[in-house]
Amino acid sequence: MKARREYVEKIVLEAGQLIKQRITEDMKIERKNGQRSDLVTSVDYEIERFLVERISEKFPQDSFLTEEKTVTLEETDHVWIIDPIDGTMNFIYSLRDFAISIALYVKGVGELGIVYDVMADELFVALKGQGATLNGKKLDKVTPVTLKQSIVDISLKTIWNLKNNLIADFKDLTPAVLTHRNLGSAALRITHIGINRVHFYISDRLSIWDIAAAVIILEELGGVHNFMDEELIYNSDSFFFMGANNKEIAQELHDKFFL
Ligand code: IPD
Ligand code: CA
Ligand code: CA
Repeated sequence: MKARREYVEKIVLEAGQLIKQRITEDMKIERKNGQRSDLVTSVDYEIERFLVERISEKFPQDSFLTEEKTVTLEETDHVWIIDPIDGTMNFIYSLRDFAISIALYVKGVGELGIVYDVMADELFVALKGQGATLNGKKLDKVTPVTLKQSIVDISLKTIWNLKNNLIADFKDLTPAVLTHRNLGSAALRITHIGINRVHFYISDRLSIWDIAAAVIILEELGGVHNFMDEELIYNSDSFFFMGANNKEIAQELHDKFFL
């Protein structure tokens, strides 16, 4: 595991440099599945290919589950789950607040999670059972907060979809919490719960590559999420996700706002 961690940390930093270089050049932007808000760029594909190629050179027996599907999954023991740019909308419009997310699952269990905020140069790394680091420095566990002290990251789209599908109604969220934000990168926000920048991240629709690395970091820092103790299934289905600072506030929010 140490060899894989050290090698992949290095190539993630290289991929970050490549993204910074590409930002200064023209990139191709396309809609995915004809959706206005679901965009992909030539850089997403390039970074995904770069990561897959570099890992395959060193660990040819490993396989990959990736967002942009530049490679097909073969389901070996070691599976790398990759989102080459999480927060593509931010990447295109703000040129910041996006991340490279890469995780290693061994026989279905998350062993290594890396989330790299490229423009902030923040490299989060977690090894299952061994804690998490930020730029090589060991991180402390989260400081527990109450619901009233919480900053909640949730999008208008999620609020709208959960209400329309009669799953949750967040109309009275404002007085129940400290405040709310929406950054636009699931991997970063789930990771940020682990360092107390936010205390909840809620999304009606995520895919495994959005969360695979960040949940390992969150767990190592004492946060909770709704897939704890479950094996993540290797497919591209979307699902509801909630990550939180602690399980008491997750339960309280659930009791107050879920229908
Ligand atoms: C998206 C981001 C966004 C979340 C979407 C994801 P992408 O990933 O994480 O914050 O709301 O559901 O699909 O497309 O930028 O990799
Ligand atoms: Ca994503
Ligand atoms: Ca992506």
